[in-house]
Amino acid sequence: MRNRYLLLVIMVWACLGCVNKDKMYFKQYMTNGEKLYNVHCGNCHQPDGSGLGNLIPPLSNDFSIKNKSLVVCAIRNGLSGPIQISGKTFDGKMPSNPQLSSLEIAEIMTYITNSWENSSDRTTISEVDSLLMLCQ
Ligand code: HEC
Repeated sequence: MRNRYLLLVIMVWACLGCVNKDKMYFKQYMTNGEKLYNVHCGNCHQPDGSGLGNLIPPLSNDFSIKNKSLVVCAIRNGLSGPIQISGKTFDGKMPSNPQLSSLEIAEIMTYITNSWENSSDRTTISEVDSLLMLCQ
Protein backbone atom coordinates (compact mmCIF):
# COMPACT_ATOMS: atom_id res chain seq x y z
CA MET A 1 0.00 0.00 0.00
CA ARG A 2 2.76 2.34 0.99
CA ASN A 3 4.74 1.41 -2.09
CA ARG A 4 1.80 2.17 -4.31
CA TYR A 5 1.47 5.61 -2.75
CA LEU A 6 5.15 6.24 -3.29
CA LEU A 7 4.86 5.16 -6.92
CA LEU A 8 1.97 7.57 -7.43
CA VAL A 9 3.94 10.44 -5.94
CA ILE A 10 6.90 9.66 -8.20
CA MET A 11 4.65 9.48 -11.27
CA VAL A 12 2.99 12.83 -10.54
CA TRP A 13 6.37 14.42 -9.87
CA ALA A 14 7.82 13.07 -13.13
CA CYS A 15 4.81 14.27 -15.10
CA LEU A 16 4.97 17.77 -13.63
CA GLY A 17 8.62 17.78 -14.66
CA CYS A 18 7.79 17.06 -18.29
CA VAL A 19 5.05 19.70 -18.42
CA ASN A 20 7.43 22.29 -17.00
CA LYS A 21 10.14 21.30 -19.45
CA ASP A 22 7.75 21.76 -22.36
CA LYS A 23 6.66 25.16 -21.03
CA MET A 24 10.30 26.14 -20.65
CA TYR A 25 11.08 25.17 -24.26
CA PHE A 26 8.03 27.08 -25.47
CA LYS A 27 9.13 30.25 -23.66
CA GLN A 28 12.68 29.90 -24.93
CA TYR A 29 11.49 29.44 -28.55
CA MET A 30 9.20 32.48 -28.24
CA THR A 31 12.01 34.69 -26.88
CA ASN A 32 14.58 33.59 -29.48
CA GLY A 33 11.95 33.58 -32.22
CA GLU A 34 11.04 37.21 -31.54
CA LYS A 35 14.70 38.28 -31.74
CA LEU A 36 15.23 36.38 -35.00
CA TYR A 37 11.96 37.73 -36.41
CA ASN A 38 13.01 41.30 -35.71
CA VAL A 39 16.36 40.75 -37.48
CA HIS A 40 15.22 38.72 -40.50
CA CYS A 41 11.51 39.44 -41.07
CA GLY A 42 10.29 42.52 -39.21
CA ASN A 43 11.61 45.07 -41.73
CA CYS A 44 9.16 43.78 -44.27
CA HIS A 45 6.31 42.16 -42.33
CA GLN A 46 6.56 44.80 -39.53
CA PRO A 47 7.08 44.13 -35.82
CA ASP A 48 3.32 43.73 -35.32
CA GLY A 49 2.97 41.36 -38.28
CA SER A 50 0.65 43.73 -40.14
CA GLY A 51 2.64 43.80 -43.41
CA LEU A 52 2.96 46.80 -45.73
CA GLY A 53 -0.02 47.85 -47.86
CA ASN A 54 -0.20 46.00 -51.16
CA LEU A 55 3.50 45.08 -51.11
CA ILE A 56 4.03 42.80 -48.08
CA PRO A 57 1.35 40.40 -46.80
CA PRO A 58 0.43 40.40 -43.08
CA LEU A 59 1.35 37.51 -40.78
CA SER A 60 -1.35 38.40 -38.26
CA ASN A 61 -3.63 35.66 -39.58
CA ASP A 62 -3.67 31.87 -39.36
CA PHE A 63 -2.03 31.30 -42.77
CA SER A 64 1.24 30.13 -41.17
CA ILE A 65 -0.61 27.72 -38.87
CA LYS A 66 -2.57 26.20 -41.76
CA ASN A 67 0.32 26.16 -44.24
CA LYS A 68 3.31 25.18 -42.11
CA SER A 69 5.10 23.31 -44.88
CA LEU A 70 4.81 26.19 -47.35
CA VAL A 71 5.99 28.74 -44.76
CA VAL A 72 8.96 26.67 -43.53
CA CYS A 73 10.10 26.30 -47.16
CA ALA A 74 9.47 30.03 -47.83
CA ILE A 75 11.67 31.01 -44.87
CA ARG A 76 14.55 28.79 -46.09
CA ASN A 77 14.20 29.20 -49.88
CA GLY A 78 12.22 32.43 -50.39
CA LEU A 79 8.83 32.85 -52.06
CA SER A 80 7.46 34.53 -55.19
CA GLY A 81 4.41 34.41 -57.43
CA PRO A 82 0.82 35.47 -56.71
CA ILE A 83 -0.52 34.50 -53.28
CA GLN A 84 -3.93 35.23 -51.65
CA ILE A 85 -3.72 36.45 -48.04
CA SER A 86 -6.67 37.82 -46.08
CA GLY A 87 -8.67 38.37 -49.27
CA LYS A 88 -5.90 40.33 -51.03
CA THR A 89 -3.57 39.17 -53.80
CA PHE A 90 0.15 39.77 -53.30
CA ASP A 91 2.76 39.20 -55.99
CA GLY A 92 6.10 40.11 -54.49
CA LYS A 93 9.40 38.44 -53.77
CA MET A 94 10.47 37.21 -50.34
CA PRO A 95 14.23 36.55 -49.99
CA SER A 96 15.70 33.17 -48.96
CA ASN A 97 17.49 32.56 -45.65
CA PRO A 98 19.97 29.73 -46.30
CA GLN A 99 21.93 30.76 -43.19
CA LEU A 100 19.09 29.96 -40.76
CA SER A 101 19.39 26.59 -38.97
CA SER A 102 16.46 24.22 -38.39
CA LEU A 103 16.39 25.36 -34.75
CA GLU A 104 16.21 29.02 -35.78
CA ILE A 105 13.41 28.30 -38.28
CA ALA A 106 11.55 26.33 -35.57
CA GLU A 107 11.89 29.31 -33.21
CA ILE A 108 10.64 31.79 -35.86
CA MET A 109 7.73 29.46 -36.72
CA THR A 110 6.82 29.14 -33.04
CA TYR A 111 6.91 32.93 -32.69
CA ILE A 112 4.79 33.80 -35.76
CA THR A 113 2.20 31.08 -35.04
CA ASN A 114 1.80 32.31 -31.44
CA SER A 115 1.76 36.10 -31.86
CA TRP A 116 -0.79 38.69 -32.99
CA GLU A 117 -3.87 36.67 -32.00
CA ASN A 118 -2.34 33.47 -33.41
CA SER A 119 -2.21 30.53 -31.06
CA SER A 120 -0.68 27.16 -31.83
CA ASP A 121 1.83 24.56 -30.60
CA ARG A 122 5.61 24.87 -30.53
CA THR A 123 7.20 23.95 -33.87
CA THR A 124 10.00 21.44 -33.21
CA ILE A 125 13.36 20.99 -34.95
CA SER A 126 12.41 17.52 -36.21
CA GLU A 127 9.17 18.92 -37.65
CA VAL A 128 11.16 21.59 -39.54
CA ASP A 129 13.69 19.00 -40.75
CA SER A 130 11.01 16.74 -42.18
CA LEU A 131 9.17 19.67 -43.81
CA LEU A 132 12.43 21.00 -45.33
CA MET A 133 13.03 17.62 -47.00
CA LEU A 134 9.76 18.07 -48.91
CA CYS A 135 10.45 21.60 -50.27
CA GLN A 136 10.24 21.82 -54.05
C1 HEC B 1 12.23 41.74 -48.27
C2 HEC B 1 10.96 41.61 -47.59
C3 HEC B 1 10.64 40.32 -46.85
C4 HEC B 1 11.35 39.74 -45.83
C5 HEC B 1 12.65 40.21 -45.20
C6 HEC B 1 10.57 38.59 -45.42
N1 HEC B 1 9.45 38.47 -46.17
FE1 HEC B 1 7.96 37.11 -45.93
N2 HEC B 1 7.07 37.78 -47.63
C7 HEC B 1 7.46 38.87 -48.37
C8 HEC B 1 6.66 38.95 -49.55
C9 HEC B 1 6.74 40.02 -50.63
C10 HEC B 1 5.75 37.88 -49.52
C11 HEC B 1 4.72 37.48 -50.58
C12 HEC B 1 5.44 36.64 -51.63
C13 HEC B 1 4.59 36.38 -52.85
O1 HEC B 1 3.94 37.31 -53.34
O2 HEC B 1 4.62 35.23 -53.35
C14 HEC B 1 6.02 37.17 -48.27
C15 HEC B 1 5.29 36.09 -47.82
C16 HEC B 1 5.42 35.53 -46.56
C17 HEC B 1 4.53 34.55 -45.96
C18 HEC B 1 3.28 33.94 -46.59
C19 HEC B 1 2.18 34.95 -46.65
C20 HEC B 1 1.64 35.40 -45.31
O3 HEC B 1 1.46 36.62 -45.17
O4 HEC B 1 1.38 34.59 -44.40
C21 HEC B 1 5.01 34.27 -44.73
C22 HEC B 1 4.40 33.36 -43.68
C23 HEC B 1 6.23 35.03 -44.54
N3 HEC B 1 6.44 35.79 -45.67
C24 HEC B 1 7.01 34.99 -43.42
C25 HEC B 1 8.28 35.59 -43.36
C26 HEC B 1 9.24 35.33 -42.31
C27 HEC B 1 9.00 34.41 -41.11
C28 HEC B 1 10.35 36.06 -42.59
C29 HEC B 1 11.65 36.09 -41.84
C30 HEC B 1 12.41 34.85 -41.79
C31 HEC B 1 10.08 36.81 -43.81
N4 HEC B 1 8.83 36.48 -44.24
C32 HEC B 1 10.95 37.73 -44.39
C33 HEC B 1 8.49 39.74 -48.03
C34 HEC B 1 9.45 39.52 -47.07
